Amino acid sequence: MLILGFAVRNRLLKHSCLVLCSLITFAYLTSCGTDEELTESGQGAAFDQLWSGVFNRCGSCHGRDVSGTEGGPDLTDKSTFTAMLLGKTGDDYPEWTTFAVNQENCVDKSFIASGRSSQSLVVAIFDSQVASNMGCDVKDHTEPSQNISISSSQLQTLKDWIDEGP
Ligand code: HEC
Repeated sequence: MLILGFAVRNRLLKHSCLVLCSLITFAYLTSCGTDEELTESGQGAAFDQLWSGVFNRCGSCHGRDVSGTEGGPDLTDKSTFTAMLLGKTGDDYPEWTTFAVNQENCVDKSFIASGRSSQSLVVAIFDSQVASNMGCDVKDHTEPSQNISISSSQLQTLKDWIDEGP
């Protein structure tokens, strides 16, 4: 009787452990999956806002069939915009020869350095103070011939988005 009781309890213990372990594994996997998706696409409300207000204009010069910036990142597509720039430098685009010639000392700087807006060229092209700290000759995109206007609140959204680690 004592042995039987022990066996039942033991099995119960095993069973509840199994259930608990599965639950923990499931919770871990699902939370991980969501994080991964957000990181990969760089999407979210802030990015949506930046895309429709600012970034949707980049592709007219940084794309597949444009002349002047050939071989560089293709910024025409919302779904791949972040992937083209995040953690990348000019060294990742060796065919982008005009960049190497015109902004020579910028080729080893990050386009988007996750968590570090003050070290990201995507910010520097709009912010002269950030540009002066990049340690290279940054192409100011607010002036002719880029003429991209960005409001101070959009610029802040851009910095926050990068600092939060896209
Ligand atoms: C009117 C054309 C034009 C538009 C629009 C444009 N760019 Fe550029 N961009 C250039 C040129 C030209 C360069 C210099 C490199 C070269 O000559 O190939 C450049 C360089 C850059 C660089 C490197 C800057 C440096 O000095 O190291 C980044 C980053 C960049 N562009 C991002 C963007 C983003 C993001 C947008 C959209 C908000 C954008 N560009 C829109 C023409 C353009």
